[in-house]
Amino acid sequence: MKRTHTCGEIGAGDLGREVCLQGWVRFSRDHGGILFFDLADAYGTTQLVYDPEDLPDNAARKALEEALDGFTRESVVSVGGSVRERVPGTEDPRNPTGEVEVLIKEAEMLSPSRSPPFEIGEQKEHLLPAEETRLRYRYLDLRRSEMMRVLRFRHRLLALAREHLDDRSFLEVETPLLTRSTPEGARDFLVPSRVHPGSFYALPQSPQLFKQMLMVAGVDRYYQMARCFRDEDSRADRQPEFTQLDLEMCFADREDVIGTVESLIAHIWRGLHGEELSTPFLRLGYEEAMSRYGTDSPDLRFGLPMTEVGPIVADAPYEIFQRVLAKGGAIAGLNVKREDGADSVGRNEIDRLISWVKRQGMGGMTWMKVSPSGLESNIVKYFTPEVQSGLMEAMDAEEGDLLLFLAGPREKVLETGGLLREKLAADLGLIEEGRQQFLWVVDCPLFEKDPVSGRLTAFHHPFVRPAGELSPEVRGESYDLCLNGVELGSGSLRNHDPALQRRILSMLGLSEERMEQEFGFFLEALGYGAPPHGGIALGVDRMVSIMLGKESIREVIAFPKNKRMHSPMDGSPTPVDDDKLSELQLMSLAIDDLDLDDLEDLQ
Ligand code: AMO
Repeated sequence: MKRTHTCGEIGAGDLGREVCLQGWVRFSRDHGGILFFDLADAYGTTQLVYDPEDLPDNAARKALEEALDGFTRESVVSVGGSVRERVPGTEDPRNPTGEVEVLIKEAEMLSPSRSPPFEIGEQKEHLLPAEETRLRYRYLDLRRSEMMRVLRFRHRLLALAREHLDDRSFLEVETPLLTRSTPEGARDFLVPSRVHPGSFYALPQSPQLFKQMLMVAGVDRYYQMARCFRDEDSRADRQPEFTQLDLEMCFADREDVIGTVESLIAHIWRGLHGEELSTPFLRLGYEEAMSRYGTDSPDLRFGLPMTEVGPIVADAPYEIFQRVLAKGGAIAGLNVKREDGADSVGRNEIDRLISWVKRQGMGGMTWMKVSPSGLESNIVKYFTPEVQSGLMEAMDAEEGDLLLFLAGPREKVLETGGLLREKLAADLGLIEEGRQQFLWVVDCPLFEKDPVSGRLTAFHHPFVRPAGELSPEVRGESYDLCLNGVELGSGSLRNHDPALQRRILSMLGLSEERMEQEFGFFLEALGYGAPPHGGIALGVDRMVSIMLGKESIREVIAFPKNKRMHSPMDGSPTPVDDDKLSELQLMSLAIDDLDLDDLEDLQ
């Protein structure tokens, strides 16, 4: 028997047709000798029916019944039969094949299945087995129509991206996976070399240096669906292995890259949602993002911005504020505005918020309510009418609003205020269902200062072009793309001048010798006519998971690692045999590294 149709395509137009379907037996039921099966494949589900009345020949009936006896759940079978209408009243309008069924005339077992460890159905997410079980049997989990939909959505997103970039003269170039370390702020996964004992390749944290060298090579516009590897702790939006939509453009300024990404995402949106996305996306400077929202990737699906009110209350005799300001701290006000006209937050809820803020490590939180007669709370007495109206104006306060104030060290205040903002939005249901809000955060600093050592580190990576004279405070020519408060992508213009690149590496503490060792090849390349260039990398896994409303990127990766960076299915990472280690000369390396005292301890 040869398949004539998939399980998702037979409909009323096929009535009477002889067909052969092959697929997985999903459910079966016996209605007084009449047997029903749901046969499923990647495309859908078709109902099969066996009715003994339809087979007058006893021998044929017996043979067919014997075959159907083996049709256990998830076995792979082949069935021949004719398409007929379902009995009126038993149609399934949610299923595209739901008007018809196939009357079984021939049946063959292609591949039996052991009893599956969980039901492969259309169950709601909260009814699914534990994630560990799903990952252990991922090939079964992927059989669920929801997972198939995710795989198809992801494929389509990548296909649309390729289509758009191909049309705009971008060239897809594959860069190596066995390479040397690129600094993106995480640990490398190392791969030992057998041919060069004691030497290691690093799996790329990103193709950053290679895409820049493609620009030196004169590849005018590059892109790649690039697999990247970072040995960092796994989180809902982080995997040790993930995919970037990575691109780079010669002779481009910031607007060129931003415009390219906006039109790319609008194309993807149109293709996947059939909707026009509003462009250009919102833009916010890094400083404003931090001071208004307490994070460099704010969620602007809702308002609740913070206002720094220190200067307004500087002279008010309220001791807590005075103490904080004297120590150079900050006071941030957050106006809990109920734009939906709902009741304002009650006293109990305020107390709960104060406890929550304390759990975040703050001393407490003060508040005022805006009533018809002005501000109300037990601390209002410390503020003159002028200060009160200054606060109201700065915080855009109106009757019914609740004003919350956090006071303490600036960074802690802004960070906690940012988290409080998100908590309030979730608690008060301020996020409109289905709303997607893109945002560019531009002008990030080039450097960050390590609070302990005082040493400079790169805010993004060391190849970002400074937006002015090089100094520890200079901004970078950078643009990060956020979607609903998640960092989706990060990009910048780069340094094509090797002397400037050297100065930056030197400010990051690299000696001439280390610079040569680690980046000599790259600095050399910049010396052979490097064009001005810039680019960006978008996180594909994050984009797909947000677009599909999934909690974790593990839901949109075919074979992800679990939260402990382990694969419950293939068991990786695994120990390797001693002979493999010694072939790679790793045994001797390990022994060389031990000192004799250690060896004695081991004995
Ligand atoms: P960056 O390190 O910001 O930039 O990475 C770009 C985007 O990749 C995604 N991403 C991740 N996704 C899943 N798991 C991870 N562990 C993970 N780490 C990063 C994020 C992020 O925004 N070379 C630069 C880009 C450039 O300058 O062109 C880079 O890699 O969505």
